[in-house]
Amino acid sequence: METMMVTGGRRLRGNLRVDSAKNAVLPLLAASILTEEPVTLREVPRLTDVSHMADILRTLGCEVTREGSGLRVDSGNLRGWEMPDKLSKQIRSSIFMLGPILARFRKATVTYPGGCEIGVRPIDLHLSGLRSLGVVIEDEGGHIHCDGGGMHAGEVHLDYPSVGATENVMMAAVLLEGTTYIHNAAREPEIVDLQRFLNAMGGDVRGAGEQTICVRGVERLRGVTYTPIADRIVAGTLLAAAAITGGEITLERAPVEDMTATLSKLREMGCAISEEPGRVHLSAPGRLRAFRQLQTQPHPGFPTDMQVQMLALLSVSEGTGVIVENVFENRFAHAGDLNRMGARIIVSGRTAVAHGVERLCGAQVTARDLRGGAALVLAGLRAEGITMVEHAELIDRGYDHLELQLRALGAEVSRISG
Ligand code: EPZ
Repeated sequence: METMMVTGGRRLRGNLRVDSAKNAVLPLLAASILTEEPVTLREVPRLTDVSHMADILRTLGCEVTREGSGLRVDSGNLRGWEMPDKLSKQIRSSIFMLGPILARFRKATVTYPGGCEIGVRPIDLHLSGLRSLGVVIEDEGGHIHCDGGGMHAGEVHLDYPSVGATENVMMAAVLLEGTTYIHNAAREPEIVDLQRFLNAMGGDVRGAGEQTICVRGVERLRGVTYTPIADRIVAGTLLAAAAITGGEITLERAPVEDMTATLSKLREMGCAISEEPGRVHLSAPGRLRAFRQLQTQPHPGFPTDMQVQMLALLSVSEGTGVIVENVFENRFAHAGDLNRMGARIIVSGRTAVAHGVERLCGAQVTARDLRGGAALVLAGLRAEGITMVEHAELIDRGYDHLELQLRALGAEVSRISG
């Protein structure tokens, strides 16, 4: 087990460059098996979710190699259409290997990826989307067998704008003769990036970022070298780290055009923020002001992946604020840990109310998921004394050495293994 040891009280100051987005890299890795030619993704952060995804591709017969800061995928020898159980359970996003495997082999077997700390994480929308494309799906005790022999282009309507389901259907349809429409599609920036990537490979996808995506099937896709978009959630987390400490930060390669909801909330809390394409500067007051209400929504609403970081900021702000988590059913698991540090948060179902306190005290707390773990580190940056965040290895799923990034801003953070 890894523990992050945080000594609070330092104002963070400095400049950082934002890595490529985990939630773009993962679907792009899945999509890279849609061609037999090599694909190279540039500036890929060293995240455990990325290395797990690389392992899944290797198990299917791909060659995945690190090239400097990039990753090269060669799926010329791709032979497997059965996803490995253990790896599928290790990483939820393995489910969007379904679409590409079906596109290549017209058959696939995967395991239910299972839930996690933030929710049950069903895959019904993925399966109904694929069924709309003619995939015959049987569910045998946790294994999902897909027969894509009769796959065809068609109309897909998602009951909810699921990010993963949208990505799965886009990838399943890109090589299907005819035109597929995806209605009520997710509009996240990572969906737009997937469209850009598929089109760079020779695909014909339009409408990503809007409610309806149109996929015109092409014969084949070719290899490409591609730089994924920057990570808006890592960028938001680093801004929040400066904000909670009354500090100042400049982020290079910040996807500001995809961060409007987060930047708006930070301004509402009293942060002075200046932005230009690819760069953002934040300067925080000694004490933040509570926002009245924050509702998480699908993009372009406030991102659920920034919610618990904002709860940490709210807990030390002046005033009282309310957070409603509309996307996942259990994303306040860290409120208890924050209260152990002296916060005054009341949780009822999908609503949390925080009465801001002047001070937090360092404590021993536990990360339960990657974003919650990051939020506890942020709270530790503000708290008096030392905060020990256990199971910090969960943070590594979505942050590339967060402790090094924070130390570069002047934080006193170290890691203890064992
Ligand atoms: C993606 O997960 C992200 N992961 C999540 O980031 C992010 O929180 C989420 O989108 C929402 O933005 C990746 O991109 C790898 P959804 P995904 O399908 O695709 C329900 C992080 O911290 N749902 O949009 O799984 C689901 O239960 C992670 O980086 C169904 O009911 O999210 C949830 O309540 C956490 N049936 C809601 O939709 C389905 O078939 C949103 O899920 C699929 C989803």
